[in-house]
Amino acid sequence: MPRLPDEYLRRLQDSASIVDLFSAYTEVKKRGRTYVCRCPFHSEKTPSCTIYPENQSFYCFGCGAGGSIFTFIQKTENVSFMDAVRILAQRTGIELPQQSPEEQKTANLRRRCLEINRETANFYYLNLLKGPNRAGLQYFAGRKLLPETIKHYGLGFAPDDWHQLRDHLRSKGYRDEEMVAAGVCRQSEKGGVYDYFRNRVMFPIIDLRGSVIAFGGRVLDDSKPKYLNTNDTPVFQKGSNLFSLNFAKNAASKKILLAEGYMDVIVLNQAGFPNAVATLGTAITEEQARIIAHYADEVIISYDSDGAGQTATQRALGHFSAVGVPVRILHMEGAKDPDEYIKKYGAEQFRLLIENAGDAINFRLDRCKEGLDLSQEIGKNELLRRTLRVLAEISNPLEREIYIVRTAQNLEIRPEVLRLQVDKAVESGKKFAKRMKFRAIEAQSLQRDELNPQSNEFPKEAKAEQEIIAYLLRYPEEYEMLWSIVQPDDFATDLHRRVYQAVCQAMQEQQTRFDLTLIEDQFSVEEIGRITGIIAKYRDIELNRDALETCVEVLKQKHKAAGGDFTEEDLLQAVANRKKNG
Ligand code: CTP
Ligand code: MN
Repeated sequence: MPRLPDEYLRRLQDSASIVDLFSAYTEVKKRGRTYVCRCPFHSEKTPSCTIYPENQSFYCFGCGAGGSIFTFIQKTENVSFMDAVRILAQRTGIELPQQSPEEQKTANLRRRCLEINRETANFYYLNLLKGPNRAGLQYFAGRKLLPETIKHYGLGFAPDDWHQLRDHLRSKGYRDEEMVAAGVCRQSEKGGVYDYFRNRVMFPIIDLRGSVIAFGGRVLDDSKPKYLNTNDTPVFQKGSNLFSLNFAKNAASKKILLAEGYMDVIVLNQAGFPNAVATLGTAITEEQARIIAHYADEVIISYDSDGAGQTATQRALGHFSAVGVPVRILHMEGAKDPDEYIKKYGAEQFRLLIENAGDAINFRLDRCKEGLDLSQEIGKNELLRRTLRVLAEISNPLEREIYIVRTAQNLEIRPEVLRLQVDKAVESGKKFAKRMKFRAIEAQSLQRDELNPQSNEFPKEAKAEQEIIAYLLRYPEEYEMLWSIVQPDDFATDLHRRVYQAVCQAMQEQQTRFDLTLIEDQFSVEEIGRITGIIAKYRDIELNRDALETCVEVLKQKHKAAGGDFTEEDLLQAVANRKKNG
């Protein structure tokens, strides 16, 4: 991959604040010169992620994630290094310098895809209103959508024709392969291209910048498949976007309503709930939960009232708990989804549903009864077992007590009896957690290092190398001195060798201030995490010339033992080392 000029990366990096970036995802607390927060990259209760404003970096002592502003964007947006640069460039308005031909090509294709999507949305919209076929408009009217709603969402209609969109796009100067890349057309076996969406009402998917990135299309009758959605394209990933978030994010309310369908969201909007979103034809992902968490204090899950909807709710609960957003669950009776509910009972009634939405624990307690025959002893016992498990997971004792009393009433048993059982379950849960933690630590210490495999074979050398790298990263201006006493060839492990070489090389080309960004494009995000980890590990440890030389000596010993002119003593020592480590 071609490299961006270092000054550019540095300017870009300086234009944003890493603390601000984190603050958008998690609560950040100042602690001396650094900041701490709960890590956005793994689920945790106590903060183990540290942010270092001094060099715009971060490191999580819990999961080992770490790096620069760019790593942060790579991980939160799930994109490559170049895309992270692009995103930041766009946010800060600091334009990218001249790109390589290959990059220009991808950037170009992305731009063309977005243009095609916009043109296509326009085409569908005009077709809905002015086309000879008014079927689409009639369909929406039948579903009680107002003209302003149709306009607000830019809804449209794809004509019942194999080539009308293709011909329209051709007339606007777009090439067939670009239409296929954007996902609005498909390649036929004979080599021609045809319109992907036909005779369907169309829902454009719009991202947070207001670009049309994809479409969902619904049939007008009961034929299958009911919905067709754009597959992933250079500008669209289903699991990373949400329908109507572009509107919901600006809503006054910090509550987000999560519904299953496009129509639910649109009808909710029309009924005065602009804070509704839906996933794009798939179950919600943790990434989508995290995106929602970004804009919401609370999520109200308004999935369909059928079995599938309830199972999906259960699954979504897990994701929201992982990203730390409180959830309530809407309980709808007499209608299968919000669209139907509002049509039947009106917006005010729906507002009451929201107010009365129960919390996640009540939802889970209710679900315990599922599939059980409570007239039988065996069913009752199973219900008690399931209920105990839910109650024991409530970490706040006060809250737990409230649910114990309420549940005891429902199950018609004495609260003392239930309390005793729950306490037992809590205790054994704690013991279990302790045992798991011990196992995890044990497993970690025995775990093979996958990122830098040779360190399993050469632990002593790997440790020495880490210290050398820590020294180099702390005093990069001394790279020439370092280079004179230790070269990449002396390193026993590949990752450390690459780091050493990359940093020295960057310094040689730079002759100025060093920062991680200069080498970031040469390493994976996991590797960058490891490098930041080395810095973090040695942060409060003194690194001096003596210690450095001892480390270099360790490497030279190994080098000698591995070949060249070693003494008998070297050999013996090497063998002893092998035995100790192997
Ligand atoms: N969906 C899909 N493909 C299907 C069926 C559903 O992608 N074959 C997605 C769509 O995003 C849809 C959502 O799942 O909006 C919910 O599906 P469903 O409840 O069946 O549809 P509704 O949104 O209720 O649509 P409608 O009211 O128009 O029947
Ligand atoms: Mn519906």
